[in-house]
Amino acid sequence: MFQGDSIQVRRLDDGFAELCFDRQGDAINKLDARTVDEFQRATRVIAADGDVRGVLVSSAKDVFIVGADIAEFGEMFRQPAEHMARDVYAKNGIINAFEDLAVPSVVAINGFALGGGLELALAASFRVMSNDAQVGLPEVKLGLFPGFGGTVRLSRVAGPAVAVEWIAGGRPSRAASALAAGVVDQTCDPAALRETALTLLRSAADGHADWRARQQRKREPVPRQPTELRSLFDGALADVDARSPKHQPAAAIAVRMMSRAVTCTRAEALRLESAAFAEVAKTQAAASLVRAFFNDQLLKKRFKSYGQGARPVKSMAVLGAGIMGGGIAYTSALRGTPVRLKDIAPPPLALGMKEASRQLARQVKTGRLDQAKADAVLATIHPQLDDAGFGEVDLVIEAVVENLSVKHQVLSALEGVVRPDTVIASNTSSLRIDDIARPLARPENFVGMHFFNPVPVMALVEVVRGERTSDAAVSTAVAHAVRMGKTPVVVKDCPGFLVNRLITPYVSGFLQLLADGADFAEVDRVMEAFGWPMGPALLQDVVGMDTGGHVGDVIAAGYPQRMRPVTRNAVKLMVEHRRYGQKSGAGFYRHGLDPSGKPVRSPDPEAQALVATLQLDGPRTFGEAEIVDRLMLPMVVEAAHALEEGVVATAAELDMALTLGIGFPAYLGGALQYADWLGLAEVVARCERLSALGPACEPTARMREMAATGARFHG
Ligand SMILES: NC(=O)c1ccc[n+]([C@@H]2O[C@H](COP(=O)([O-])OP(=O)(O)OC[C@H]3O[C@@H](n4cnc5c(N)ncnc54)[C@H](O)[C@@H]3O)[C@@H](O)[C@H]2O)c1
Repeated sequence: MFQGDSIQVRRLDDGFAELCFDRQGDAINKLDARTVDEFQRATRVIAADGDVRGVLVSSAKDVFIVGADIAEFGEMFRQPAEHMARDVYAKNGIINAFEDLAVPSVVAINGFALGGGLELALAASFRVMSNDAQVGLPEVKLGLFPGFGGTVRLSRVAGPAVAVEWIAGGRPSRAASALAAGVVDQTCDPAALRETALTLLRSAADGHADWRARQQRKREPVPRQPTELRSLFDGALADVDARSPKHQPAAAIAVRMMSRAVTCTRAEALRLESAAFAEVAKTQAAASLVRAFFNDQLLKKRFKSYGQGARPVKSMAVLGAGIMGGGIAYTSALRGTPVRLKDIAPPPLALGMKEASRQLARQVKTGRLDQAKADAVLATIHPQLDDAGFGEVDLVIEAVVENLSVKHQVLSALEGVVRPDTVIASNTSSLRIDDIARPLARPENFVGMHFFNPVPVMALVEVVRGERTSDAAVSTAVAHAVRMGKTPVVVKDCPGFLVNRLITPYVSGFLQLLADGADFAEVDRVMEAFGWPMGPALLQDVVGMDTGGHVGDVIAAGYPQRMRPVTRNAVKLMVEHRRYGQKSGAGFYRHGLDPSGKPVRSPDPEAQALVATLQLDGPRTFGEAEIVDRLMLPMVVEAAHALEEGVVATAAELDMALTLGIGFPAYLGGALQYADWLGLAEVVARCERLSALGPACEPTARMREMAATGARFHG
């Protein structure tokens, strides 16, 4: 009856039609503009055909529809909000026309029906779902919410409570919970999907199921008492406000809009949805989270291309069973690589193994592993004090103390006991890979793998390419990091590598601000409100003032032209007074434990008094915007330098590294995405206002060029 590139409609026996999604030349179906257009034409064909008694909607792929085509968002989101709202509302007419067919419809959901895929399915009279499928509305993860009638239909099909939970939470659901929530009408074995859906369709067409009433319900307000609805939405809003990440308003905007839309007819409700969708599409969070989606895809492509040159890692060794070595060994073993874990004395080795057992016990407790599997994983970590078996390992990750001569000694000795093709990686955080490689006989096999603490939790690994590191060593490190479930970003060897390098001018900006009279608790408040998980003073306390200060000095020394030492330095003063931060009970704040054992901080007048001694001109109040700029702009400038120097290959990798490595606020999307959002002309103008602060705020020549031409870091 209809043949397009994405959809075909054919006549079945008994007067039924099957509308099948089957995108030509693609492994999946998505709801891109072309498919939506074909859906409109296919619906018209069906509507015009007087012989059709019902429509089966199916997919010829392993998935039903994975969602909208996110690549189309860029152009759509550039329109003014009113245009976008008008376009989105007009597109909704296509789904309405399908919902308003004079015959019943049943969707057979296989694989995934996410986002637009589920929204389309909600327009049918009935939904049958394969037991191994998943459905959901994950748009909130992109800073958005469903704009194709999803908020309107789900509120009416499954009730407003389910709609709020699914839309604000964004988590996909499996068949049993989708059925229990009333989002689908039947579930069945994958093999029986088509037949089950057809049987339901026949029964509806024969008048055994009141499909007309079900469709009518979606055109009317939700039949609930206003008081009931008000209390439901008030509760939901409070919940969403408390749970949403900072400056990500999508869930709250959706819930607020839905609270009005449930009292409206379909047409009015869709108008509200379209307008709110256009509003949310224009937010900084949506721009950044959609960008992060593309960054993630680009990174995955890069892993694949690196993976081709990787040497297989069937077994490995970790040197040093401390905080980092223990975490690296545990995470590698958990993901299937047997590990020889070596330390120089039994107590740290026992501690490393104890930590692995504790992590595994947690996996069992949360149901992610059964006890037998946890025991099997632990058995693949082999603690040892010698080099037994090192001749067989394919990769060694060194995580011994941060001391160049110790690393030289340990790694030179290691080269004598491993195979000539074994890749050796160092987890150093502040030493240069080229410096560590100096005495090595096979520097081509040597690479940096900079993990972040705590290793089981932090996704980022900086894979550091030294001057003499081979492609094979880089590929092997990348492939192993991916196998560990991490996100590797390949960086060039330079002081601080990427992430610690970029955080250094941010911290210096903070220290200068204190020297100029700012109150550190106020700076923390402003930066936390801006979106950071913790302010810079608390960050120093958590990292440890002695370690943080030392690493900062080492990195700053590598960029003497820009990163000048802050002379009246609050971190140094804290160290002089043995206030190392959380670990010593006092730093900028006083630290302790609450009755449940959770760390708590409280203000500390002593710390305030110490900082005051640095403030030669006394205390000064700074506006929030100035505080933010004095910390953020030096980081943006340094990010531009790093990109120009080729420390990372792409803006995508730089921004992903910041987001995953130090919790850079997701709604900003990374230092470069933040600069793009402000516009380079604005960034340069703000930098110029801070020019008295010195070269850390001096834009690069390329930034000035970009400002003049309106160019962006992310295409
Ligand atoms: N702690 C962090 O947050 C962090 C983050 C990233 C990178 N790093 C880097 O990771 C490395 C280890 O740091 P850590 O915090 O785990 O230190 P740690 O002090 O907790 O552990 C180091 C371990 O190495 C052992 N060791 C010393 N000499 C050894 C040798 N010759 N052979 C085997 N084991 C030996 C020690 O006994 C100790 O158990 C350092 O290079 C550090 O810069 C640390």
